[in-house]
This record gives sequence, structure tokens and C-alpha cells, in this order.
Amino acid sequence: MKLAILTLTLLAAPALAAPFANGNTQAGKELHQKKCTACHIAKYSGDGSKIYTRAERRVKTASSLAQQITTCNNALGNELFPEEEAHLGAYLNGQFYKFK
Ligand code: HEC
Repeated sequence: MKLAILTLTLLAAPALAAPFANGNTQAGKELHQKKCTACHIAKYSGDGSKIYTRAERRVKTASSLAQQITTCNNALGNELFPEEEAHLGAYLNGQFYKFK
């Protein structure tokens, strides 16, 4: 019985990893400043972060956050690599969304 529980725990572990665990928050912050804020500021003024905190924000899960980052990267002409999208995910999740 103990062995079965241990096996199940080990099998479930990857699903429990924090979202964007392989992203680097500091790198994400810098990329965000360079690539992402200008367009959001044009829409929401201030520092643009209202786009993440507005009541009607669209992103509700870690996977939809990842998807939205890809969509916005498309708007940039796919300048960013997948690792860079992960950095951005780590930064935005740590700063605004806090998905577990
Ligand atoms: C060309 C303009 C543009 C650029 C550049 C851009 N975005 Fe966006 N972004 C938008 C618009 C417009 C929305 C709002 C979409 C909506 O409300 O339907 C948005 C929304 C978002 C959201 C969802 C906010 C919510 O509602 O929860 C995230 C996350 C996001 N952007 C991330 C990024 C990241 C990361 C980058 C940089 C790689 C980036 N964006 C660059 C235009 C842009």
C-alpha cells in the first residue's frame, strides 16, 4: 500500500510543478520592459500593467497566460524564442497572476 502511494505521488509530481518553473523572472522583467510595455501603454496608459489587473482581464489560467504571451509574440512578428516566452510567463505570473 505504501509503495502504491509513493508511486502515485511520484507520477503526479510533474503535474504539481509550479507554472513557468523553467522561466527566469528577472530575464522576463527585462524582456517585458523592452518588448511588451509600449503597446500595452498605448492601450491602457500609465505603465500599461492595468492590462493584467483590469477587472475584465482575459487570462484565467496558467495555460491561457502562456497562450496569450504567444499571441502577443505573434503581434511582434515572433521575435521571441520559447524560452523567452517562459521567462515572460514567470515574470507576469509572479507579479500579477499568481497561478499555482
Ligand atoms: C502590438 C501590440 C502588443 C504587443 C507588442 C504586446 N501585446 Fe500583449 N496585448 C495586446 C492587446 C491589444 C491585449 C488585449 C487583448 C484583449 O483584451 O482582447 C494584450 C493582452 C495581453 C495579455 C492578457 C491580459 C489579460 O487580459 O489578462 C497578456 C498576458 C499580454 N498581453 C502579454 C504580452 C507580452 C508578454 C508581450 C511581449 C512579448 C506583449 N503582450 C506584447 C497587445 C500587445
